[in-house]
Amino acid sequence: MWPIIFLKSSIGKKWVMACTGLCLIFFLFSHAAGNATLFYSTSLFQSYADQLHSHPLIVSLFSKGLFAVFAIHIITGILLFLQNRKARPQKYKVHKRAFKNSIASRTMIYSGLFILLFAVIHTAAVSFGDHGVIAHTVSTMFSSFVLSMFYIVAFVVLALHISHGLWSMLQTFGVNHPRYTWIIHKITYAVPLFFLLLFGAIPFLFLFGSGN
Ligand code: HEM
Repeated sequence: MWPIIFLKSSIGKKWVMACTGLCLIFFLFSHAAGNATLFYSTSLFQSYADQLHSHPLIVSLFSKGLFAVFAIHIITGILLFLQNRKARPQKYKVHKRAFKNSIASRTMIYSGLFILLFAVIHTAAVSFGDHGVIAHTVSTMFSSFVLSMFYIVAFVVLALHISHGLWSMLQTFGVNHPRYTWIIHKITYAVPLFFLLLFGAIPFLFLFGSGN
């Protein structure tokens, strides 16, 4: 059957990576928007979370869908990595991309696995906390300097991963006309930087600012 043949091919897997990656970026934008309420006040963040949890069916479907997309992205990424390594055991000496992304592109599998570790620790941290008062959980989390620094490192790794991931996704979707190269470069800088600054500012808000 053609869908199976397509999924077994490298290009099929690249399409799966690009589509699931795009979904994960949409999730990050919505998560960033919700978290941005913390810059205003913890009570606004709390009412946003309460509003969200007043629709348990939607929250449950969203969580399950997100988990499935995340799992497909990770499994396909590992398969693609193994497939590429088998096909090309000798590492390239010259990389086609500019230096800016060469580190990101060569470390995608490792940055991806680190983000997985972060996601597991993060979901455990937010689920095992004080369930009713999620703002309290976040504030307790970021009162720990070590945990806050772990989050900052994870956001830097996430920014690197997204930077190359976005570029790769646009190539897969065929958005690679030389006329658009400048805008593609800007997007691959701007989007990860946006996430790094927005997510990264939150631990500092609690450590040194008005978050508490
Ligand atoms: C400082 C930045 C962040 C804060 C304060 C934060 C906070 C939270 C909170 C409070 C929840 C629980 C939401 C609820 O149940 O109402 C949550 C869930 C979650 N967060 Fe974050 N988060 C941050 C960054 C991230 C990043 C960068 C990622 C992506 C790698 C991420 C991935 C997740 C996931 C996967 C869930 C579970 C979603 C679900 O089960 O539906 N978070 N986060």
